[in-house]
Amino acid sequence: MTAPTVETAPKYHLTSYGCQMNKLDSELVESKLRQRGYVAAACEADADVVLINTCSVRQHAEDRVWSKLGKLRVRKRSEPGLVVGVLGCMAQEHKRYLVARMPHVDLVVGPSAFGDIDQTVEIARSKNLQIAAEREPARTRHEVRGAGVLSVDQGMSGDTIVRDVRVRPHRSQAFVSVMRGCNMPCTYCIVPTTRGDEVSRPIADLVEETQRLCADGVTEITLLGQTVNAYGRDLTGQNATLARLLRALHEVPSLRRLAFITSHPNFLSPDLIDAMAELPKVARYLHLPAQSGSNAVLKAMRRGYTIERYEARIEQLRNKAPDIELHSDFIVGYPGESEADFAATVAFVQRIGFAQSYVFKYSPRPGTLAAELHDDVAEPEKERRNAVLLEVQEELTGAKNRALVGKVVEVLVEGDSKVDGRFSGRTAHHRLVHFATTDRELIGQYVPVRVTQALAHSCVGEMLRHDAAQEGAHDPAEAAT
Ligand code: 5AD
Ligand code: SF4
Repeated sequence: MTAPTVETAPKYHLTSYGCQMNKLDSELVESKLRQRGYVAAACEADADVVLINTCSVRQHAEDRVWSKLGKLRVRKRSEPGLVVGVLGCMAQEHKRYLVARMPHVDLVVGPSAFGDIDQTVEIARSKNLQIAAEREPARTRHEVRGAGVLSVDQGMSGDTIVRDVRVRPHRSQAFVSVMRGCNMPCTYCIVPTTRGDEVSRPIADLVEETQRLCADGVTEITLLGQTVNAYGRDLTGQNATLARLLRALHEVPSLRRLAFITSHPNFLSPDLIDAMAELPKVARYLHLPAQSGSNAVLKAMRRGYTIERYEARIEQLRNKAPDIELHSDFIVGYPGESEADFAATVAFVQRIGFAQSYVFKYSPRPGTLAAELHDDVAEPEKERRNAVLLEVQEELTGAKNRALVGKVVEVLVEGDSKVDGRFSGRTAHHRLVHFATTDRELIGQYVPVRVTQALAHSCVGEMLRHDAAQEGAHDPAEAAT
């Protein structure tokens, strides 16, 4: 098939909500469309195909999509040729409603059916174009379901799609999904429903993909999984663990940084701790969501560990790899969370000294076990707990940033910072650093930066001699924090 020329090529626009896994899925979907000759529209209004990759993890994320779909419904009345697609977790969770009640939506594609998304889009587009040609748009007052294509769960994720380098946010960085789905019983979480059971990819495939990405200029890989450190437990007989995977990927010569998100406290094994301690390319942070600092709440959430056990694991980690910084997620206002439970969370955050935490107000997800419980923490109280915990975390993050002032860190330059004349990038600890330069050639390179100022969520610094950065792996200076 010959690809259409750019002027005639159909234009797509894809909005992505939610987690990093969704961002990766969006890259894979875009790659597939580009391989078929589609081009990115300058803006949504200019697109022939509007796709939304959705998230169901909290109500707020869903509300944004419902509102967007409302606007697209209006647009579709005057543009019957337009293709509207709902992808990802909401497609899985609300497929019946979308199909029955949203006739302006042409595609409903769950996260495990991205492998042939280009074909699905193409079918919808040709049917819609036919409909558009047969109708006078001005007279089309009623809604049009162009294709009526429904492609929800075909057991074919996009992981096998060869990625188009142009859709990666940064040439030197890439995500690699090592496992899909989640088998954990967390009572509040919709992910096991929307993304299904854990399915890990074999180590050999992941080595091959990493080699391919590195040959294409990637030097930093972030491995993705909902419980990434449970990687491999479904691959019976293959002895596949995250620790073994890290060791295998570490061998890829041009790879310089290897990160992985998100870990579950129950699977922080001694093997993994050893790998993190021994492998210099492994990023120096661990995202290990605790969710709460109260044993009663952890039990109610069915997280499967106690605070004591979490802390014992952290102690083992810190004994072997003291430079690793910890990141966490917390949910405030879970049903039954008392003031004392919340106080325990605050004390826990301070005790551990997390470098970063995401804090979420509990949001009941229909279909989960927790949604059966009385959502008894009032919204203003959730707001208050959210603000208090964020402030505690900000103080900790700020202190860690202040301790870096005067030190030299190695920054992988990502691109323009929000402030003109500045670029920003991240350290091996995932800390955001801004520095003054206008040299675009630096994007994708590792440069030494002396930190001169600490902000609440990032640092400002000055770049040192650039050629010095080309040697050696990450700077141990930051490890001193
Ligand atoms: N309400 C609020 N936060 C939630 N999370 C998951 N489910 C919910 C929910 N129902 C949070 C958890 C998880 C992060 C990705 O989202 O903290 O780690
Ligand atoms: Fe959700 Fe728990 Fe699985 Fe994380 S581990 S995705 S919180 S069910």
